Amino acid sequence: EAEAPDILSAEFADDPYAAYRIMREHHPLIRHEPTGSWIISRYEDVARAFRDPAFTTGNYDWQLEPVHGRTILQMSGREHSVRRALVAPAFRGNTLQELFLPVIERNAQALIDGFAAAGEADLVADFATRFPINVIVDMLGLDKEDHDRFHRWYTSVIAFLSNLSQDPDVAADGMRTREEFAAYMLPVIEERRNDPGDDLLSTLCRAEVDGTSMSDEDIKAFCSLLLTAGGETTDKAVSSLFRNLLDNPGQLAAVRADRGLIPAAFAETLRYSPPVHMIMRQTSQEVRIGGGTVPAGATLTCLIGAANRDEERFADPGTFDIFREDLTTTKDVAFSAAADHLAFALGRHFCVGALLAKAEVEVAANRLLDAMPDMALREGFQPREQGVFTRGLTELPVRFTPA
Ligand code: HEM
Repeated sequence: EAEAPDILSAEFADDPYAAYRIMREHHPLIRHEPTGSWIISRYEDVARAFRDPAFTTGNYDWQLEPVHGRTILQMSGREHSVRRALVAPAFRGNTLQELFLPVIERNAQALIDGFAAAGEADLVADFATRFPINVIVDMLGLDKEDHDRFHRWYTSVIAFLSNLSQDPDVAADGMRTREEFAAYMLPVIEERRNDPGDDLLSTLCRAEVDGTSMSDEDIKAFCSLLLTAGGETTDKAVSSLFRNLLDNPGQLAAVRADRGLIPAAFAETLRYSPPVHMIMRQTSQEVRIGGGTVPAGATLTCLIGAANRDEERFADPGTFDIFREDLTTTKDVAFSAAADHLAFALGRHFCVGALLAKAEVEVAANRLLDAMPDMALREGFQPREQGVFTRGLTELPVRFTPA
């Protein structure tokens, strides 16, 4: 029987999918000393950890608190449900369609205009890492001049959160970003309270549920969370979508010919190469899971990347297939708590920005396909995913005939 893989090893970072298979088959519950956590990898177990209230997100504190402050992700129970009700309406329905869709369209096109004539682009550096951050800046009603500033903060925060080797310079830079972000945002929040508009920041200032509203500090922390929760995830989803299609030319041609397949390509990308591979939960009581027993107060590492390739749940899980029938998202009932890949989690913390992400990725895919009718990977380039907690490409160079 294969030894239990170590999620902090170099081999794991190189090819987690091979390790995931060993875990699902032979080690569905691992006590991992270095992270002090219990690791689960089977679809059934990970889905349960997201849905069952015996598991909470309390343990995010050590990870997110230092850069973001206290956010919705660290909350549970009534505090969480009220906070979620305060922010959720901004990311769906008419607000999304009427207010933010034009922002998404404009920002996708503006970035594409920057390289459309060149005949080559790095879809990561020139598009994916910029697009969701520019969208957030504009949604918040900030200045276009803030795009670069937010991009710098974004880069700093994600380096901080993926700093597994604990590089002190990276840690110090993340702390500086926390200060700069607060110094910038708090006065703007104050301004919007006095002179509101129809932007996201004003909406957050105005929001009230059951007599509760958000303090300036709460709003600042939420905006900071958007850099990672809304930025890094969408960034990685866009580049992985194109990588998967470029790797499968028949499916790329099908999507080009029928843009109605983009939602299926997005859903299958989220299953096959989810931006978030691991998230943590804490047990509020002793639980039986993964064929073993985990004590109360323990931390669980839930492997989304492993669950999404569980052969008990998906046929031929190691194949990227936008036509698969065992993903109900392909029929577009996706973006509710019933979504059946786990890339957005499930249950009470199910991604509050899922519809926004879907809108962003669909617009990005359409506009990029329009601008690059013969898009091809740069000759000889082999895309490589990086990262352990979050995972995606750091480079995706393509060539095309300029329109
Ligand atoms: C929560 C993934 C896009 C905002 C989550 C969670 C996951 C996730 C896995 C659950 C975390 C947990 O339970 O511990 C993704 C992916 C995205 C995406 C894969 C893109 C493809 C976005 C966007 C926003 C956003 C665009 C912007 C609003 C949030 C927030 C939460 C969250 C605020 C916390 C919700 C809560 O605690 O109730 N996301 N996300 N996400 N996401 Fe997303």
